[in-house]
Amino acid sequence: MTDPTTDPFAEGCAWIEGEYVPIHEARIPILDTGFVRSDLTYDVVGVWQGRFFRLEDHLDRLLAGCQRIRLIPPRSREEIRAIMIETVRRSGLRDAYVEVVVTRGVPGQGERDPRKLSARLYAYAIPYVWIVRPELQERGTDVIVARDTRRIPPGSVDPTVKNFHWGDLVRGLFEAYDRDSLLPILPDGDGLVTEGPGFNVFALVDGVLRTPARGVLHGITRKTAIEIAEESGVEMRVEDLPVGSLYRATEIFLTSTAGGVIPVAHLDGAPVGTGAPGPVTSKIRDRYWELHTDPRLSEAVDYDS
Ligand SMILES: Cc1ncc(COP(=O)(O)O)c(C=O)c1O
Repeated sequence: MTDPTTDPFAEGCAWIEGEYVPIHEARIPILDTGFVRSDLTYDVVGVWQGRFFRLEDHLDRLLAGCQRIRLIPPRSREEIRAIMIETVRRSGLRDAYVEVVVTRGVPGQGERDPRKLSARLYAYAIPYVWIVRPELQERGTDVIVARDTRRIPPGSVDPTVKNFHWGDLVRGLFEAYDRDSLLPILPDGDGLVTEGPGFNVFALVDGVLRTPARGVLHGITRKTAIEIAEESGVEMRVEDLPVGSLYRATEIFLTSTAGGVIPVAHLDGAPVGTGAPGPVTSKIRDRYWELHTDPRLSEAVDYDS
């Protein structure tokens, strides 16, 4: 393990323009269109007990996202993978949050044509991030359905391309705080459930586990939860989920690389089911963490190399 008092990388390591630097020394060019225009895509991978979880799935999603928004990454898939692994190795972190960002790049003076730019890559590893702390997950978290904030429509920003257009998600967070809650679920303009700041949503309604089919990021944790449900004999449907059905749900949980499978205890101030994590949620949550040591889905970082 690294010592934060002696090792400048112990709080995290970034890769910026070909160099590995301590996280607090990492800088990006202020004119990068990723910063000034949110013109980018990114991905976040979890490292748990020294192992990357579903790294290949995250790379697939990152590269598919680049293609959809016409970004040509400046490095190959193999190089990006190696850079991500190296940020973790240098940090020494066993439980890490590893982000990789591909931006459109830095324009020449006065240049406004995105086709003329060369994409840039950034990557970093920092200590693992929890949307909801594990202690609170044991009891279940509190959420609201946002009333004043809708998710940005897919015809404006494609939610399957992981992005920094968080204006609606942050606005929803403030709405949750104003209503004495912790997290918002955002509806779309047709009254369907979408997602929230950094997570997908699942609800057990009439004994069937459901998660929205469209208008959402195809989360890797979502994918894992769907697979676990199917393997465990839980009836699972990926389909439109009207907001109204959430109020009939006996269990609700959120999924994210930043925190895993997160039980919801209260919706708009009222208990969901018994007001504690339900059996389907707990089973999927336990299995999710077990899979982090499964060599089919995880790969070890060689910290000694
Ligand atoms: C908007 C949004 N939805 C869903 C998710 C969950 O995706 P994953 O499980 O791949 O972390 C994220 C992750 O950051 C997100 O930003």
